[in-house]
Amino acid sequence: MIVGLGGSLARSSTSRAALERALEGAAAGAETRLFDLRELDLSMYDPDEDEPGEAAAELIESCYAADGLIWSSPLYQGTISGALKNALDWLHVLGRRDPPYLHDKVIGLISAAGGTQGLQAINTMEFAVRALRGWAVPYVVPVASAARVFDASGAIKDESVEAQLSMLGAEVVRIAELFAQDRTVHRQHECAQAAQAVAAAG
Ligand SMILES: Cc1cc2nc3c(=O)[nH]c(=O)nc-3n(C[C@H](O)[C@H](O)[C@H](O)COP(=O)(O)O)c2cc1C
Repeated sequence: MIVGLGGSLARSSTSRAALERALEGAAAGAETRLFDLRELDLSMYDPDEDEPGEAAAELIESCYAADGLIWSSPLYQGTISGALKNALDWLHVLGRRDPPYLHDKVIGLISAAGGTQGLQAINTMEFAVRALRGWAVPYVVPVASAARVFDASGAIKDESVEAQLSMLGAEVVRIAELFAQDRTVHRQHECAQAAQAVAAAG
């Protein structure tokens, strides 16, 4: 399962539209689920009251169970939106799990900017990926002049950006599969070592 998280709180959101296109790219190889920040309507994360409500709990469990994620933020004041940051703060409760946080999960990154570039938001998200023990996909999609790329209904007008978003979705699936294969090989190796130890002991 590939989980998409993002969009702005705006009714018509370019970062949400971009996320939807990337999830379509992922859907060729995996199940997908969109967590739209406007619909989620999360309460502010409070470390003193961190029992998640229904929406936050569903988000947290889905992110923990996911094989890969795609995050998409608007560029706000040169960085990510408060709404996305708040959603990422809720993932802090995963620090109590074993393995903790988003351990070994693959995360694709998208930003949508009004101006000519949105790499600051991508870079900021990458810090959060590392803090949450995930792995950022090297290929990223910072959508510039986003209002010219999507129309008000969310339809995409730029074929090259559409191809980039689709490729990002496919990359998240491809790399998530590599991680899954590596886990299988690692488990097989551990089983073989345990069997050898038993044979040697007796
Ligand atoms: C509060 C706010 C801050 C913004 N700051 C920037 C900015 O620093 N640089 C920029 O290029 N665009 C900025 N924009 C424009 C948004 O990045 C752009 O409109 C984007 O498409 C919004 O994403 P959305 O359509 O998902 O809401 C800002 C917009 C808002 C509302």
